Amino acid sequence: VDYDALIRAELGPMRPYVPGLRASEVRELSGRDDVLKLSSNENPYGPFPGALAGMKAVLAKLNVYPDGSARALRRRLSQHLNVDDQHIVVGNGSNELLRLIAQAVLAPGDECVFAWPSFVVYPMVCQLMGATEVRVPLTTGEVHDLSAMADAVTERTKLMFLCNPNNPTGTIYAREQFEAFLERIPAHVLVVIDEAYFEYALSSEYPDGLAYFDGVRPLGVLRTFSKIYSMAGARIGYGVLPELVISALNKIREPFNVNTVAQVGAYYSLDDDVELRRRREENQEQKTYLYACFDRLGVSYVPSETNFVYIHTERPVEVFQALLSQGVIVRDFGNSPAVRVGVGSPDDTRVTIAAFEAVVAKLGTL
Ligand SMILES: Cc1ncc(COP(=O)(O)O)c(C=O)c1O
Repeated sequence: VDYDALIRAELGPMRPYVPGLRASEVRELSGRDDVLKLSSNENPYGPFPGALAGMKAVLAKLNVYPDGSARALRRRLSQHLNVDDQHIVVGNGSNELLRLIAQAVLAPGDECVFAWPSFVVYPMVCQLMGATEVRVPLTTGEVHDLSAMADAVTERTKLMFLCNPNNPTGTIYAREQFEAFLERIPAHVLVVIDEAYFEYALSSEYPDGLAYFDGVRPLGVLRTFSKIYSMAGARIGYGVLPELVISALNKIREPFNVNTVAQVGAYYSLDDDVELRRRREENQEQKTYLYACFDRLGVSYVPSETNFVYIHTERPVEVFQALLSQGVIVRDFGNSPAVRVGVGSPDDTRVTIAAFEAVVAKLGTL
């Protein structure tokens, strides 16, 4: 059988997404029980209490299909975000929305512009559609180079992904640069701002993408319940997009793409501002302890607006392995001279600091 002829040629060079190691895998590999997984930017606390109660209560009703249009949640989001519910779509994680948008917009030969390094799913969805990837390097400060990104737009550009704050560097681009960038982007380009870490960003320079959404301009915003709301395992995210883009996504998404448990959990998550603020403030505080440790140890890091920190190192594989042997799982990026470490609870911070101290003692400077 000629499977190469059977499978679409675009898939040939693609590689499956490689998730960070799971804690159970590391326990098995290392023989240690005390493993701390800081490789997927998850939140350590689990779903908000109201969300958890709602999700438990709905389990007995899983005999019926989910609400395929997520009406209640979209209405709740509409109040929460102050945008019309016709402009809201929910997805099986914001990841699904990234793929749906690419499927709706990109044809072979079209160009899709995004920064690099950034979220690995952007090149994947671009390759899936046979579109041309245009990767624009971050500045030396690891920030989106919005002026170079605007320069990269051609007549063939259909889509741009902006990741703000950026994964894996934790950096943001500022309001002023963004406004100058928007002025330069022609109307044939859909700009999608991925704000997976929106709730963690505290800088006064941070532009809330929704403030630029008017339903007419080809601009949209994606957010997720996987990060600060700690529902990564339930899979739910949302997008705010112009109505005609939403209609296109509705044509190609699965009829019941978001499960009932996730819809209910997301719905109740929006009720608890106190817990949201608590998590955000604690995350900020834990980062200051980590920074102080890194400063003391001479570890080079990028100040972050998220729940993870990007660390420069010339030997990422050794650093990854050495931290693993201390029971701490971080993220490496193949050949890139960096590792990314998640920010967790105060206990997690203590373990992380002890692990970095041990690794620096063993390896010398990272
Ligand atoms: C920048 C960015 N966008 C999107 C996602 C996908 O999130 P989810 O599909 O869980 O909503 C992630 C997850 O790591 C991310 O870092």
